[in-house]
Amino acid sequence: MPPYEKHVLVCTSCEGCPGFQLLKALRQELKRQGAPPHIRIQGADCLDACDFEDTVMVVYPEGAWYGKVALEDVEEIVQGHLLGGRRVERKLIDFPARTVGGVPLAPGSSGCATSQESDGTPTSST
Ligand code: FES
Repeated sequence: MPPYEKHVLVCTSCEGCPGFQLLKALRQELKRQGAPPHIRIQGADCLDACDFEDTVMVVYPEGAWYGKVALEDVEEIVQGHLLGGRRVERKLIDFPARTVGGVPLAPGSSGCATSQESDGTPTSST
């Protein structure tokens, strides 16, 4: 079916975070809204953004990174962003504002302290 108009990756790797619940809720809400076939939502391993926010998801092609996404935010994100094309600004991760020693950070520039291998073994960042 690709290419998708929107491709959503939800971190389901965060230890103790509700990533799987978020993934399920996003899919349910999208289905409730009519489940357009051009939108794909899938779970992903660590997105290397867990040092910034937990419960992380990213929407492509925009590259809109959302953090601290709660189940209460799902309807707004699905209706507003995935179907309406309007980012939910209040949930976007402000990467330029995140710095270490004055150096701006971006996704992938820091390690993931809480990610796990598929067997549950914590991974180490390098
Ligand atoms: S972004 Fe969730 S474990 Fe890294």
